Amino acid sequence: MSGPIVALKGVHKSYGDYHALRGIDLEIGAGEFFSLLGPSGCGKTTLLRTIAGFEDASEGRVLLDGRDMAGVPANRRPTNMVFQTYAVFPHLSVAENVGFGLRRSQMPKPERARAVEAMLEQVGLGGLGRRAAHALSGGQRQRVALARALILKPKVLLLDEPLSALDRKLREQMQHELRSLQRQVGITFILVTHDQEEALIMSDRIAVMFEGLIAQLATPEDIYNRPVDRRVAEFIGVMNLLRAEIRRNGSGIEAEIEGLGTVPIEARQVPGGLTGAATAGLRPETLTVLYEGQPDRGRVTHGNIEEETYYGDMTYYGVRLDGTDRPVTISMRNLPGRDILDPGTRTRVAWSPEALIFFP
Ligand SMILES: Nc1ncnc2c1ncn2[C@@H]1O[C@H](COP(=O)(O)OP(=O)(O)O)[C@@H](O)[C@H]1O
Ligand SMILES: [Mg+2]
Repeated sequence: MSGPIVALKGVHKSYGDYHALRGIDLEIGAGEFFSLLGPSGCGKTTLLRTIAGFEDASEGRVLLDGRDMAGVPANRRPTNMVFQTYAVFPHLSVAENVGFGLRRSQMPKPERARAVEAMLEQVGLGGLGRRAAHALSGGQRQRVALARALILKPKVLLLDEPLSALDRKLREQMQHELRSLQRQVGITFILVTHDQEEALIMSDRIAVMFEGLIAQLATPEDIYNRPVDRRVAEFIGVMNLLRAEIRRNGSGIEAEIEGLGTVPIEARQVPGGLTGAATAGLRPETLTVLYEGQPDRGRVTHGNIEEETYYGDMTYYGVRLDGTDRPVTISMRNLPGRDILDPGTRTRVAWSPEALIFFP
């Protein structure tokens, strides 16, 4: 069967008169790494728990592998969940933790032990089966939680902010491990995260949620490069927003943009044939600070550097373009021999009209 492994149709969820989910339609394919991304309180956990069967939808349908899940309890669903705070049993060994869900299966003991050892190997805990779970590091504990969920061979693994308790370095490492583990086991992962970078790094597709609704469902590249509205644009990375006016000009379209001037643009840059007052968006990496002695290239405008933030590999400049009242953010790679420019410096800024996107 090649239908979606998860299908939600018009799912609503209310708590009293509070509407946590306000009409979710969603299809997730077998083997996908899918992320639910959005600010705290937008309904991500509620949606995940509704798929898992820990919550009942107030309205709408949840189908898993083509079957309607109405009335099917969590433990009868082809899903398993890994929680934010790794719920390992500290008094049990690693192997006992991982084998926990197999206790009631018909599997003979030696076979169970082999399954546990193979699973530990797969999550990078080979040989640690006898270790007490309380003696593990945070990253190792999260691997135990993963192994314990995966050993039950769910068709869909649900992960609610599984890495948010880890420090940055470990979190980045686990992101890569989780991604390659998902490719190995080949089952659908649905990850809840409020961290846009995490969603971009890990996912085949992302649903960006605000206030109980999906604002955009697309690949990471599309979410970043073609956000459907300003909310998505500003939630994912940094987006400079400038006032603009869009006009038809004979057979073409042109845009007059504060700080940048009037340029021809293409229809694909303008959603729904928008004309008149609009907002232009430019990512920080599509603008370039030109250093003294560097020749002009592409289109060039002028401004004053007002802020400088050093990140080691990158410097972020706040540059107020002439004729504007607030700075745009420009990211520059710190190459050898390239000076960091101080606030107060007058500078040329190169940019290109192809990088513009427009919002109503
Ligand atoms: N059991 C509940 N009773 C009442 N309100 C709830 C309950 N669970 C969640 N909510 C509310 O629903 C909204 C969405 O919560 P949640 O799904 O946990 O958001 P997220 O995971 O995106 O941070 C929040 O405003 C939260 O307070
Ligand atoms: Mg949550």
